[in-house]
Amino acid sequence: MKNTIGVYGLGVMGANLAKNMLHNGERVAIFNYTRDLTDAFLDGYSHPEVSAHFNLESFVHSLEKPRKIFMMVTAGPIVDSVIQSLIPLLEPGDIIMDGGNSDFHDSNRRYQQLEEQGIHFISVGVSGGAEGALHGPALMPSGDPDAYKQVAPILEKIAAKVDGKPCCTYIGPAGSGHYVKMVHNGIEYADMQLITEAYLFLRKKLGLTVEEIATVFKSWDETELKSYLMEITSEILTKMDEETGKPMVDVILDKAGQKGTGKWTSQDALDLGVPSSILTESVFARYLSSLKEERTYAEQHLTGPKLVKDEADKEAWIQFVKEALYMGKICAYAQGFYQYKSASVQKDWALDLGEIALIFRGGCIIRADFLNDISDAYKGNQEVTNLLLAPFFMDKANQMESSLRKVVIKGFENGLSLPCFSAALSFYDGYRSSDSGANIIQAQRDYFGAHTYERVDKEGTFHTDW
Ligand code: 6PG
Repeated sequence: MKNTIGVYGLGVMGANLAKNMLHNGERVAIFNYTRDLTDAFLDGYSHPEVSAHFNLESFVHSLEKPRKIFMMVTAGPIVDSVIQSLIPLLEPGDIIMDGGNSDFHDSNRRYQQLEEQGIHFISVGVSGGAEGALHGPALMPSGDPDAYKQVAPILEKIAAKVDGKPCCTYIGPAGSGHYVKMVHNGIEYADMQLITEAYLFLRKKLGLTVEEIATVFKSWDETELKSYLMEITSEILTKMDEETGKPMVDVILDKAGQKGTGKWTSQDALDLGVPSSILTESVFARYLSSLKEERTYAEQHLTGPKLVKDEADKEAWIQFVKEALYMGKICAYAQGFYQYKSASVQKDWALDLGEIALIFRGGCIIRADFLNDISDAYKGNQEVTNLLLAPFFMDKANQMESSLRKVVIKGFENGLSLPCFSAALSFYDGYRSSDSGANIIQAQRDYFGAHTYERVDKEGTFHTDW
């Protein structure tokens, strides 16, 4: 019997997705460009329905038609070379899926190129890391809707489930699935940075130990902050380094890595003209963190306020930090979803924001109870311009903005760098202000470049001889 699907690329993610498909009753052909990973896959793992191939032709020919190939290879030029190697072996109607973190511009191009050959290309945003791939990731597939229908039963089976509903939904045309995954990662960066700033405040300003912060985070994970990132951070903080006996977080160098999806989200926000400032600050925070040597030198030479540890009112401050984090999250997700909304309009994608929030509830890195509230906000009214204006989040923001403000002010008075907390507050205050100050910019532009301006009291375009 022919195989129902082929998985090309057997790194951790590809191998785990293949196993997930096997555990869900698929007959899976596996192939890797080099045989070592195929051997590693088979070493200690056996399944009656796995069919390993060491030759691309036999891999492709082992598949039932229309052939369905799930590529899980490193994003970038490798994706193109894999596609090129597959094309001569495929027939019109066959389907290639790309599950990597590909740039959506590339996915749009690949969709078009393959369409010309009659081959369907489905961009599949995959989130959830190695564990998610094995037990149920969140999936964001896009491309031709009829082609999607042919792979939907497999993708929906392997996806995470929440309330019995698969965390997988058809996103929209061409590369929109990779786009949705990209902005998911931008939100992920912001969420991670916000949690980091809460940690820094509790540690440096309130003087809590790592162990105490682990307990605080664990308790927050039982509230409206419940999320995968909150959960793993509290767990991370309990881990000790066997060599030194210190908390693991104290022996990990404070230079954050990144593979680019957060940066792409910010680049896209600039292209769209949307203020995703918190998401972007989280990328810059990683860049700033990477300047370890310079920061260490500057610490000795640049002055700032002395950090005074607060021993009093700890409980009250812990509560402020909790609310600051929640408020920061509301603003960050509001920015991410606003970016989706703008992209949907500008790229004519008709993204369903409520559905996107629903598929993020399980499997993915930003999974959180909070996404139910986001989904409800859009299900209640698809036209919501910004989540901050949805009644639920408006109420929460009105309750919690003062905590964010307190934490930012206290942090700044003590010389703490809180890029995402402060960006969230600036965004919030800017967004709720009908008076932005941009009249000064318009006047300056008109002064030096005769760029003209509009007036508050009459229609038209004006220029002043300054
Ligand atoms: C996910 C993650 C995943 C990956 C990030 C890491 O949703 O499963 O987002 O895709 O962990 O790309 O990104 P950085 O290396 O850029 O932090």
